[in-house]
Amino acid sequence: MSKTATTARHPIEDIPRERFPKHIAVIMDGNGRWAQRQGLPRIEGHRRGVHSVRATVEECARLKIDQLTLYCLSSENWKRPQHELDFLMHLLEQYMIEERATIMKQNVRVKIIGRRDGIPDQVQREMDKTIELSAANTGTTLCLAINYGGRAEMVDAVRCIAEGVKAGRLQAEDITEETIAEHLYTSGMPDPDLMIRTAGEMRISNFLLWQVSYSELWVTDLCWPEFREETLRDAIENFASRDRRFGGLTNQGPSGVDACSSGD
Ligand code: IPE
Ligand code: IPE
Ligand code: MG
Repeated sequence: MSKTATTARHPIEDIPRERFPKHIAVIMDGNGRWAQRQGLPRIEGHRRGVHSVRATVEECARLKIDQLTLYCLSSENWKRPQHELDFLMHLLEQYMIEERATIMKQNVRVKIIGRRDGIPDQVQREMDKTIELSAANTGTTLCLAINYGGRAEMVDAVRCIAEGVKAGRLQAEDITEETIAEHLYTSGMPDPDLMIRTAGEMRISNFLLWQVSYSELWVTDLCWPEFREETLRDAIENFASRDRRFGGLTNQGPSGVDACSSGD
């Protein structure tokens, strides 16, 4: 096949289903910068960011993506001014209430990962209502990372595993990668295939540190409030063209034998 043919851009509808990411995670960054560029206060960027959340959830549901995980608030974001944090909590509460009907219509199941401390009670109540109401939905899982930190998640997992060893439920030598994965907030969820970051920053910012080990990264200079379904489709199209080797070799069969070699 010629180089031109392999690098040509295909519309998303032409991508075979097995080339689609099953789990997409997004570091939604650049709200403040977007607002400041428009001469608006930073919080207006967060408000506009909710439109991008809506568009992204809708497109993932339409494309039948198994899971979308959105980084909404990091464990380090508490360093921000109180009025910005208050506004973020208000937006979260409003999103949980106002999107509930749409979430149900889209057959989306909501999950939350992160520590609950610091989240006001009334916000937690609205989060729980949406989680419970949508629990039996069978479409896209929308996992919201709120007061989430990858290192905090590992600390919580190690504490829980250590308790198990102390109580004699678990032997130290029986701890495997699966044991660790099962004790993370994301227990039972697949690792992200594709991790998107907006606003051009080339870093992970403490997001899904364990789970991201073989995720494909895609960074756009667009700020989160500018992110739309076309941007998501661009990321998916790019992902579909990647060669994921997981430490092996291209064209290697699952048994470790090169599927293309003649065997000699
Ligand atoms: C991302 O946008 C939203 C959150 C972290 C809550 P920022 O608020 O980080 O925007 P910038 O990066 O300062 O522009
Ligand atoms: C990452 O963005 C956190 C979220 C998107 C919620 P930050 O703006 O907090 O990341 P840094 O500080 O630029 O690394
Ligand atoms: Mg930022």
